[in-house]
Amino acid sequence: MKVGVDYYPEHWDRSLWEQDADLMKKSGVKLVRMAEFAWSKMEPREGVYDFTWLDEVVALFAERGIEVILCTPTSCPPLWLYEKYPEVLLTGRDGRKQEPAIRGHRCYNAPKYRELVETFVRKMAEHYQNAVNIAAWQIDNEVEAGFCCCDVCAEGFWEWVRNKYGTLEAVNQAYHNEVWSGSYSAWSQIHPPLGSFPITQYNPAYLLDYQRFMSESTAGYVEFQAELLREYFPDTPITTNTWFCESMPDFYKLFDKLDFCSYDNYPTTRLPEEGYYSHAFHLDFIRGVKQRNFWIMEQLSGTPGCWMPMAPTVRPGMIKGYGLQAFAHGADAVIHFRFRSATGGAEMFWHGLIDHSNVPGRRYAEFEELCRTVDTWKDMEGTVVRSRVALLCGFESEYAFRLQLQTAGFYYMEQLQAYHDAFSHYGVNVDIISQEADLEGYDIVVAPAMYVRSQKAVRQLHDFASRGGIVLLTTRSGVKDEHNNCIMRPLPTDYADMTGCVVEEYDATGTDKIMITMDGEDYMGTHWCDVIRTEGAEILAVYKENFYAGRPAVTQNAYGKGIVYYVGTVGLPALCRRLAERTLQQAGISYIMDLPERVEVTTRDKEGRQFIFVFNNDGTAKNFLFEGEQIELDPFEMKRFEKAL
Ligand code: GAL
Ligand code: ZN
Repeated sequence: MKVGVDYYPEHWDRSLWEQDADLMKKSGVKLVRMAEFAWSKMEPREGVYDFTWLDEVVALFAERGIEVILCTPTSCPPLWLYEKYPEVLLTGRDGRKQEPAIRGHRCYNAPKYRELVETFVRKMAEHYQNAVNIAAWQIDNEVEAGFCCCDVCAEGFWEWVRNKYGTLEAVNQAYHNEVWSGSYSAWSQIHPPLGSFPITQYNPAYLLDYQRFMSESTAGYVEFQAELLREYFPDTPITTNTWFCESMPDFYKLFDKLDFCSYDNYPTTRLPEEGYYSHAFHLDFIRGVKQRNFWIMEQLSGTPGCWMPMAPTVRPGMIKGYGLQAFAHGADAVIHFRFRSATGGAEMFWHGLIDHSNVPGRRYAEFEELCRTVDTWKDMEGTVVRSRVALLCGFESEYAFRLQLQTAGFYYMEQLQAYHDAFSHYGVNVDIISQEADLEGYDIVVAPAMYVRSQKAVRQLHDFASRGGIVLLTTRSGVKDEHNNCIMRPLPTDYADMTGCVVEEYDATGTDKIMITMDGEDYMGTHWCDVIRTEGAEILAVYKENFYAGRPAVTQNAYGKGIVYYVGTVGLPALCRRLAERTLQQAGISYIMDLPERVEVTTRDKEGRQFIFVFNNDGTAKNFLFEGEQIELDPFEMKRFEKAL
């Protein structure tokens, strides 16, 4: 378990390198990530390489027993490259090449770009082959899967379509191209979504395929780099760092061929009054991608700014607390972005641990405390987070919902967050995993908004329930087939048998709230109301308003040896929590009652030994009874307990 920093030697005068390395060593830094944006420093002109500066820094760290993560700097091609090979630039939907002055403007599929990347990556990897302190490689930086509409992607897409469907007839059928005279009569008519029309005017089946193609292109590009690196570094773990954004590649595919997952973790410094703000969701999500421990490549260190007006500064306790929170959820390394705030460049106000003054202050002192604490946590080496509750995610649904917003305020990831919040409230570990992952070992599977069909997921959920598992399905499930077309059967179509109910009609209620009653208590739903008719299911909750007052809102059905819930609305926290508690009881999973709001409890364990983390993810102190003991937690404080299993 290691704490580290992101360091940009190319931003600083050489005279600072040694003293920076000394300070890091003194503070207990174990890992330093470098070079992800330094292509022009390493290849100032085509074919002219200079690694001397990086060699010097790598050696300074080696002398101090500090390991490094080297990055391929390919998200920032040098300007000479764009000038000479403008064809590598990403092309927007407006058909224009992106202006190269920022970062990340390249098309992953451009052959010339691939060729230049290959030459550079081979040079760099070869150069560092004998370095003694490389802990890992990071490929590129925060790759995204936004639409590129260049000629290469255009051609790549129609080939992709041809490989997938074989004949034009099959494509026309899959896309329902009879609508608006959209039938293709030649492959040459298949284009990227170029044009000024809003995306919602396009055929969603076609668009989902374009998004899949872009996501696969991104994953393919990362895999291409990984294969190159492996030729030189067969035993060094390789990853790429990712974040949650609008154009996420499918993480399950992105990381499939990589050794471990890494994530950039920037919890908010302005605590919202309501909403699911805990970054525990993202941490559990990343852990679930490979169902394995992960690294944080960038961790909140100072006031975020630049892309927006500056946010409030990092409150006392956050540096240490958010670092420990990541470890508690399965991180094995937490690297802080960044060691020192830049004094130049676009990001000068995205603060690091040390301010522009270069005087280590409050935040740095807290970072040192984090290093010390984690140093005493060596006993946790090899521990993992185990969970009996799984939450399913499918990127195809995420894409399809983004391409066709269902109702105001309805977002797919929030459907997942709602149930993550609900189960976390009871102090149980939650795994967020691919909808196609193996469900063996889980007792409860929550599958919100299973929107775009995956045959495998449908089959596995049926098997899981019939063998005795508890499944919780929610509204907007079974809506689309694999092509993102609507299914001509009563909702929830593929899940109607297991839920024992059908949806007669639905009401897209936007941000309106709707009252529901369950076991004599009132709860709130929002965004969506399915008007349900039960076909064998037991009614647990009914709507209290609208023309469907009295009709079922939540049902429970015996299916095989298991139980299947259907929630016809988007529950606000009280409803989701009530359902979480009910399923935990049914599954016989022990949970914690009365945890104060925003107190998070998770565990990591290995044979016979369990570590329990109690974290106050809030700006006010908490005093409460925990396992018979009175405990007090300052804002963002974590306490670790241990017990024999
Ligand atoms: C990340 C990115 C970093 C830096 C940071 C703060 O998304 O990887 O390079 O830009 O955000 O803005
Ligand atoms: Zn392209």
